[in-house]
Amino acid sequence: MIVPSSKGCRAGSPDPAIPPKTKRGPATPPYRFNSMSPENRSEMARAKPPRCNDSEGATTARAPRKTGSRDTTGSTFKAASSLRGFASASREIHFGRGCSSLGEWLAFAEAEYARHDLALGQVATTAHDEALYLLLRALGLPLDSGAAVLARPLAAAERSAVSRIFRRRILDRVPAAYLTHEAFLGEHRFYVDERVIIPRSYFLEVIPQLDRWLKKSTAVARAADVCTGSGCLAILLAHQFPDARVDAIDLAPEALAVAKINVREHGLAGRVLLHRSDVFAGVPPARYEVIVCNPPYEPSARMKTLSPEFRKEPRLALDGGKDGLAVIRRLLAQAPDRLTDDGLLLIEVGGLHAAMEAAFGRLKLRWLPTQDGSNCVCLIEARRL
Ligand SMILES: C[S@@+](CC[C@H](N)C(=O)[O-])C[C@H]1O[C@@H](n2cnc3c(N)ncnc32)[C@H](O)[C@@H]1O
Repeated sequence: MIVPSSKGCRAGSPDPAIPPKTKRGPATPPYRFNSMSPENRSEMARAKPPRCNDSEGATTARAPRKTGSRDTTGSTFKAASSLRGFASASREIHFGRGCSSLGEWLAFAEAEYARHDLALGQVATTAHDEALYLLLRALGLPLDSGAAVLARPLAAAERSAVSRIFRRRILDRVPAAYLTHEAFLGEHRFYVDERVIIPRSYFLEVIPQLDRWLKKSTAVARAADVCTGSGCLAILLAHQFPDARVDAIDLAPEALAVAKINVREHGLAGRVLLHRSDVFAGVPPARYEVIVCNPPYEPSARMKTLSPEFRKEPRLALDGGKDGLAVIRRLLAQAPDRLTDDGLLLIEVGGLHAAMEAAFGRLKLRWLPTQDGSNCVCLIEARRL
């Protein structure tokens, strides 16, 4: 399953256009908005801007008060929808009224995030970090701006733009990455929209360490990323193994359209090949030294318990069938014909550690360490399959 609270912690790196002040590896949850240097972040956190005088916070019609982010019935959400017509007129006028400086907008947004019980984890794990990210992006300011930026006054047009983006995030519960159309994995930036899940995979930590588990004699000539979504992991593989050809596979044509954009933007169209296929069923025969897979692994019954932000991601990217293992089962059945003799299969399984051991313990799963201790990526050697 894709567990928002534990999994949504992956991104966080500077926009490549803005050189990082510090070199950063994978984010350590709780993820911070890492596009800023630690010094800048703590400076930002210390700076307590005055709150704006915004009466919006006292109104009730625009969004459910204290929305249950895990509202299993969806009733709160439905109620909010029915009020939307009235709400939209009112929120156009009021949302963020009274906020002038960037710092005031930040304080306002943080309070609204808390009041509406927004789900975090897709882009950042704190309201401060995510709201600051949105502000800087909406205003076209560098992501590593220093604390002085908090005092920057916003012109009327900028206030409208910021109000619009926070309305979409806070009232409509649109994930921040779908508003900015970008997400980061390590130092890599990816285009994203509603056609793909927002990249936050633990493979960010695992892929750079693959050499530790590959045999010394193994040169990676071919690698595969099954369930590629935005193409982010195929692209990480291609960067990790510069001589390898990478097959990136997804069942959803919509996802592959996004992957195509990212492959092109990373200049990898010659080496990363996209395939529309149910796991390997439609992929021409080939054997790989490395196969990675971040499949949908949410047990179906959990889908309706996800918060609105996560339900805005494609269901196909999250729903792993009754027990979460549907795609994993198919992959394990097909992998023997797809791995070289010394090949490795790596699968990210979220909270399915115990279920995997129960179902596939005979394969001698090796659980790879991750910085947050979730250790939710397992490695399987070809000879065990
Ligand atoms: C959890 S997302 C992973 C996306 C990307 N690899 C990442 O880490 O951000 C799972 C992806 O698997 C795709 N998918 C679901 N069922 C599939 C299947 N049977 N075969 C291939 N891809 C599938 C979905 O369309 C979705 O893009």
